[in-house]
Amino acid sequence: MADRVCIVTGGNSGIGFELCRGMAAEGFHVVMVSRGAERGQPALEKLQAEFGDSVEMMLCDMSDLTNIEKLHAEFTAKFDRLDVLLNNAGAMWGKRERTTQGHEMTFGVNHLGYFVMTETFLPLLKSTPNSRIVNTASEAHKVSWLKLDNLNWENRRYSQWRTYANSKLCNILFTRVLAQKLEGTGIITHCFHPGVVRTRFGSGSSGLMRLFWPAFRPFMIGSKRAAKTGVHLALSEDAGSTTGEYWSSSKRRRGNRHARNHDNAEQLWELTEGMLDE
Ligand SMILES: NC(=O)c1ccc[n+]([C@@H]2O[C@H](COP(=O)([O-])OP(=O)(O)OC[C@H]3O[C@@H](n4cnc5c(N)ncnc54)[C@H](OP(=O)(O)O)[C@@H]3O)[C@@H](O)[C@H]2O)c1
Repeated sequence: MADRVCIVTGGNSGIGFELCRGMAAEGFHVVMVSRGAERGQPALEKLQAEFGDSVEMMLCDMSDLTNIEKLHAEFTAKFDRLDVLLNNAGAMWGKRERTTQGHEMTFGVNHLGYFVMTETFLPLLKSTPNSRIVNTASEAHKVSWLKLDNLNWENRRYSQWRTYANSKLCNILFTRVLAQKLEGTGIITHCFHPGVVRTRFGSGSSGLMRLFWPAFRPFMIGSKRAAKTGVHLALSEDAGSTTGEYWSSSKRRRGNRHARNHDNAEQLWELTEGMLDE
């Protein structure tokens, strides 16, 4: 049985891949969660070439939330602890799509995916001393246009940027309330902006975004640098001294006024629970 175990969602690519590397280098047994085996297997082979069997893969497509329960069953059949959960899987969708449960895809994967992963693994995190939950958010939250009465983006012209930015604001608001709910459990949670990073991000976008995003690649930072803040939040004493904060470049940041609106954060939490109960 491994000493310390962590999960990285979206671990086969970009920032998630480097989060897996960073955590494995720190001696963790890493469960790299991948949407599918086709893109997961080559990433797993690269990680195993470096870290051997201390990295393994489990599959979970978050566009069907019932897969998270299956992932949990597979994980708990093997491990009796979870030290760090890194919620990182996310994307931007160029056109309106729906998850299996009927939620707008960006909101469904980027926010509900983090929410349900956390809720599902919480008993295990609670029974593991000093565990942490780290969520990959984004500075994109600063152009969000979140309407709490229309989280599913119904009857609105679809905007890939707005839905994405909203979902990243949700990550920050979720982290705030989660920290409050975890008071007294010893679990620390934070979220972070990784930087503007040269990854596959944007490959599913459309229009100008699809055209111009690749042109900025030379000016973007690498995934290794981007993952540093995530690893810092997962491990450092500094990050362990507070909880519920938004970070970038391993420093605490304020986020915009929407990100600091605790009433909205609580309302989002309640609405999310309501949507998941439907
Ligand atoms: N790149 C940036 O500039 C930037 C900036 C701020 C925040 N972020 C955030 O960083 C995180 C990682 O993105 P990245 O830049 O590393 O992009 P990436 O290279 O495209 O990686 C995204 C990861 O999420 C996975 N994913 C997407 N949809 C999924 C689903 N339905 N179920 C399970 N996994 C799914 C992808 O799986 P596949 O490989 O199968 O597609 C991939 O492993 C995201 O949350 C993103 O919002 C990125």
